[in-house]
Formats: sequence, structure tokens, C-alpha cells
Amino acid sequence: MNNKNTLVTCAFPYSNGSIHLGHLLEHIQADIWVRYKRMKGEKVFFICADDAHGTAIMIRAKKENITPETLINNTLLEHKNDFLNFNVVHDNYYSTHTEENFFFVKNIFSILKKKKFLKKEFIYQYYDIQENIFLPDRFIKGECPYCHAKKQYGDNCENCGSTYLSTDLIQPKSVLSNTTPLLKQSQHLFFDLPQFEQFLKKWICSGVLQKTVFNKIKEWFNKGLKPWNISRDQPYFGFKIPDFPGKYFYVWIDAPIGYISTFKNLCNKSKNINFNDFWKINSPHQLFHFIGKDIIYFHSLFWPAILEAAELRKPTGIFAHGYLTVNNKKISKSKGPIILAKNWIKFLDSDSLRYYYASRLSSKVEDIEMNLESFHEKINADIVNKVINLASRSAKFINLYFNGILSDKLIDKDVYNLFLKSSLIIEVHFEKRDFSLAVKEIIKMSGIANQYINQKQPWKILQNNNGLHNSYIQQVCSVSINFFKIIMTWLKPIMPNLAQNSEKFLNIKLNWTNIGTPLLNHKINKFKKLYTRIEKKQIDSLLSICNLS
Ligand code: MSP
Ligand code: ZN
Repeated sequence: MNNKNTLVTCAFPYSNGSIHLGHLLEHIQADIWVRYKRMKGEKVFFICADDAHGTAIMIRAKKENITPETLINNTLLEHKNDFLNFNVVHDNYYSTHTEENFFFVKNIFSILKKKKFLKKEFIYQYYDIQENIFLPDRFIKGECPYCHAKKQYGDNCENCGSTYLSTDLIQPKSVLSNTTPLLKQSQHLFFDLPQFEQFLKKWICSGVLQKTVFNKIKEWFNKGLKPWNISRDQPYFGFKIPDFPGKYFYVWIDAPIGYISTFKNLCNKSKNINFNDFWKINSPHQLFHFIGKDIIYFHSLFWPAILEAAELRKPTGIFAHGYLTVNNKKISKSKGPIILAKNWIKFLDSDSLRYYYASRLSSKVEDIEMNLESFHEKINADIVNKVINLASRSAKFINLYFNGILSDKLIDKDVYNLFLKSSLIIEVHFEKRDFSLAVKEIIKMSGIANQYINQKQPWKILQNNNGLHNSYIQQVCSVSINFFKIIMTWLKPIMPNLAQNSEKFLNIKLNWTNIGTPLLNHKINKFKKLYTRIEKKQIDSLLSICNLS
């Protein structure tokens, strides 16, 4: 085992909502990559946590008449369960509202303070005098100053896409009380981001970002970096800032620091990981963040700057993905239809969603439109008709006439060699997170495997021999089973449940390292249904409980 370990993170879902198909896109993308890397023998840690702080969580708890602590504890259990239902298996799924996190936040804060990266300033912000609270941008709505669309949030317009200050909104209203908010002065703590301009300019050129993200960041540089407000006024649910009465750390400061504390908590549980070694500058290990395109600014500017300030290692790569839309509708917490993870699993299996996502995901920051009208057709055509059919039609003969034993030599090596070549191509696609290309290649090879058996027609030989079997049938079907074995090895990171059933049937553990070793003179088990065809009515049921039909 080499001593270069890899830490993979997903963005922390907020504690005030359920896991939906959009979150799952990110976690499934990361989980596939982690499973693939582990199959290749790499040591990978995969962590996530709930993002438990902020005004929205506090208000949600108040509405439900429970404490924020109760809300975040309940949500944590629900989120963990949702991910496990989709075979998204984090080594640690923690929370940002923990002692470990407060420890690291205070620690980093004191370094920033000592190094004079923080300054205090008075600013004006909207205040709801009825609810006695400063309003975050998302709690103010008004008319867009650019396109004049009504009911737009205080940070950007969903109609024309402009971003602006909440004070630019025309006729602003508090979402909480529907009253007109007043501007009120308050002192805040700013992180001096402009001091890190040179460092960031160099860092973003070091190959850590995707090309389009890199270009976007360059645009932000042209607009100029501004000091970043990292404090919030009470009432707030979060960590109190030491020696700054009535003020809390902004959730976006303690959330990324949660990557550190969640990993620390994992290290505490499993003794053989060296925490300090991992986070120090010039760490030999790798750190990758999977995130959505909406939080690029935080991860590619604020976060590396904070790490640099605190003299800690920086991410090795930031992998941003696009947004998921379902039947052409944007899914989001605040607006529009949501398909929750827990609803999906009531009617459909998890492998199908994982496969569908894989077939659409690339290494680029592209949005993905998921058409649920044709979803089942794709799964049935690729997985049932191509992949599983290959196993079922060959297994029948092996089980019936050869006592489940595969032949002791492999014929038609040239076709088999095509699979080995293909495996190298698929590896590259997986490594680069170009899953859609991997899937395309896998399905192409499944087509070739089916063609092979169609041409060889073992069933005909059986007829011609008046029901007598001969070794040729065994040999052809053994080749076919070996193709199935390779295909399922490729699919294992994507479809863990199907892979597990296939392992039982094939009577082996599917592993990347033994792709080139065919199963010879090997006993397979009786073929049992490996996967159930998806019916349109399952999707109709899902859409109807999500009010989407
Ligand atoms: N709490 C912050 C992240 C802090 S990371 C230190 C947050 N939470 S979130 O719940 O709003 O989003 C979590 C992740 O899910 C983000 O990466 C976000 O981009 C992703 N997605 C949320 N909705 C999505 C879609 N509809 N489609 C794809 N990804 C989506 O941001
Ligand atoms: Zn607008």
C-alpha cells in the first residue's frame, strides 16, 4: 500500500431540509468515484456532514416549535438514512454543530486575528423591526432593479440572473413578517480576502479547477476581491465569536472548517490515520471536494484563502457539477417540485438512479435534465435487455447441462482481448469522472457480447444434436459468462446492489485487479433474477406523490 491517501468530501447539506435528487447527484457522483478508486486499490476516506447552522435553521426550528438542536439531530438521522438507502456510504457523516468543529473554528479564528487578517467595521443591513432580527438576503424579497420581476430574493434575480445587493431591491419586504425592513447599523468582522489575491491567482493556476470554473474565477478577479463579512448578529444559531458580544460566526466559516473536524472525528474513531500529517502544508495526501456550481465562490476563493491564512494544506482538486432538473423543472428547496430521496425509494430502486446519473455525468460543470417519462426505458434497454440478458441466456445452458461448471479453456480470445482493451479506456473515463463515457463504452461492449452469442447460436447446436450437449456449447456460454463478469466489474462502482447479486451468481468477488483473469473450470450458482425490470407505473406513482403528474 502506498502512503498517499485520498480524502473525498461532498458539500454539507443544510439541516433544514430533506435530501432530494439534486443532493443525490453530487453524493452518487462522489460515491462512484470513491468505489472505483478503492477497487483499484487506493486508500480513500469519504466524508460528509450536515451543515447545521444559520438563520434558516433557527427559523425553521422556531416554526416547528422545537429547539434548533432537536431539529438538527432529527435531520441528521434522516439524512444518514437517506444516503445509505442509495448505497452512498460515507466513512463518517457528522455535523458542523460539534465540539470538534468549534475547537477548529476558534483555533483558526485566533490565527487569523493574530496575523491581522481580520478587521472590524460598521455596516448597514436590513432589519425586521417586528421580528427583531437582521435579515439575510434570502429573507428579503422585492422587485429586481434590472428586469423589474417581482418577488425576487435579496441576492439575485431568478428571472434575469443578475446579482445585486439587497439594498438595491425595489420595495423590499421581510419574508418573515411581510413588513418593510429598515436599515440598521451594526459592527461586523471582515476577513481580508484582498490580502490573498496573489496567492489565489497562483493557486487557481495550479490545475485544481475545471476549465470553465477557472474562467469564471478570473472574471471575479477582474471585478476585484472584497473583504468578507464572517460575523452575524444575534439571534443566530451557530458558534459565538470570542470577545465579540452578541456576534456569531457566519455559517459559511464553520461549514468548510467542518471538513477538517469531520475528518478529525473519523481519525479519533480509527486509530491508524494521521490527522496532522494530512492537513499540514506539503501533505503527501490528496484532498478533493465535490460541490455544486452554486458554491464555487466559497470553495475556490474563500476556503483556500482561509487555509492559506491558517497555514494548512489546500485542496488537490475541486470538482464542480451542474444542476439537476427533473422534467425540465428546476428542483430547489424554496421553489418548485422536489423529489425526495425517501419518496424515490418507495417506488424505485437505488441502482437505477445511480446508473442513470452515471450515464449523464461528466467532468464538466453541465446541468443535467432528467426526463422521467423515458427513465425506465433507458434502464430496461441497457441493464435488463443487454447486460443481464447476457448472463441469463448463457447461464441456462451451463446450469442445465454442465452442472454449473464453466469450460476449462477460453475460446475466441480475440473478442475477449477487445474487452481487456476496453477496460483500459473505461479506467481512464472513471479516473477523470467522465462516467457518461464509461457507461457508453460499457454498453457498447455489452452489445458486442450479445452479438457474439447471437452469432454462435449455442441453442441451435443443441437442437442439431438432438438435445445432446457438447463442449462447444459450454465453451461459447463460458465466454459469454466471462464477458458478463467483466461488464459487472465495470458496473460495480455504479450499481452496487446488482454487483452484489451478480457476485452471488458468479460465485466470486468482482475486482478490478482480476479483470484479465477469466473464470475457467469454475462453478457458478443457479441463475436467479438479478434485477427487476422497471415499469412505467412505478414512475407514475412517484410523480403523483410528489405532485408532479
Ligand atoms: N450547506 C451548503 C454547503 C456547505 S459545504 C461546506 C449548501 N447546502 S445545500 O444543501 O444547499 O446544497 C448541498 C449541495 O447540493 C451543494 O453542492 C449544491 O450545489 C447541491 N445541490 C442542491 N440542489 C441541487 C440540484 N438541484 N442539482 C445538483 N446539485 C444540487 O450549499
Ligand atoms: Zn431580474
